[in-house]
Amino acid sequence: TDNQLQREKELAAKTAADLVEAGMSVGLGTGTTVACLLPILAARRLSIRCVATSPQTEELARQLGMRVEPFTDVRSLDIAIDGADQIAPDGWLVKGGGAAHTREKLVAITAARFIVIADSSKPVDILNGPLPIELLAFGLGSTLRRLGNVTLRNLPPSPDGGIIGDYHGPLDEPRATATWLSGTPGLIEHGLFPPEMVSTAIIGRGEQVEVRN
Ligand code: A5P
Repeated sequence: TDNQLQREKELAAKTAADLVEAGMSVGLGTGTTVACLLPILAARRLSIRCVATSPQTEELARQLGMRVEPFTDVRSLDIAIDGADQIAPDGWLVKGGGAAHTREKLVAITAARFIVIADSSKPVDILNGPLPIELLAFGLGSTLRRLGNVTLRNLPPSPDGGIIGDYHGPLDEPRATATWLSGTPGLIEHGLFPPEMVSTAIIGRGEQVEVRN
């Protein structure tokens, strides 16, 4: 039920919050699981500096009294914590259900440790589309033609002006798909996150957490 999933998100969030120490610089993800994390982290009253992957997260973190800095001059982060839409057995992720995947990937790649928090609905046997993407408005028609099967979401542009859409195609060879998408001019970013980007996935299951390193 929704209550069970909420409980699992809280357990995963609590486990991740315990990894944060005073003095750290922390990347904050986006979504409902991160929304569970923020009050738990704020309640620890640690002296930390944060960057946020979306205006929603930034606002919530500020309301909770956390110090959020722009991610412009920050060159490194000790840890980043974020949710995921799908977690494959080999560690590949699909992210971007909340359309924040471009900023999320930049924050994840910057962090010395990237921690994924999730409820038990997120692990999958095989990744499934659609895959969230962000596209440059300039040349959009050309990019869409070259990508093939893409639908655009009925959303305002991202905070960086990108057009949010979804790529519909097989994800059974994520490395090849990620390489092809990243090599497509006009595509700003896609929601496939490779295993080497993920330090640990913490998955709530009932009253337990499963930790995948
Ligand atoms: C935001 O763009 C996404 O990548 C989220 O991190 C992802 O959708 C997880 O969100 P929930 O925690 O709400 O499931």
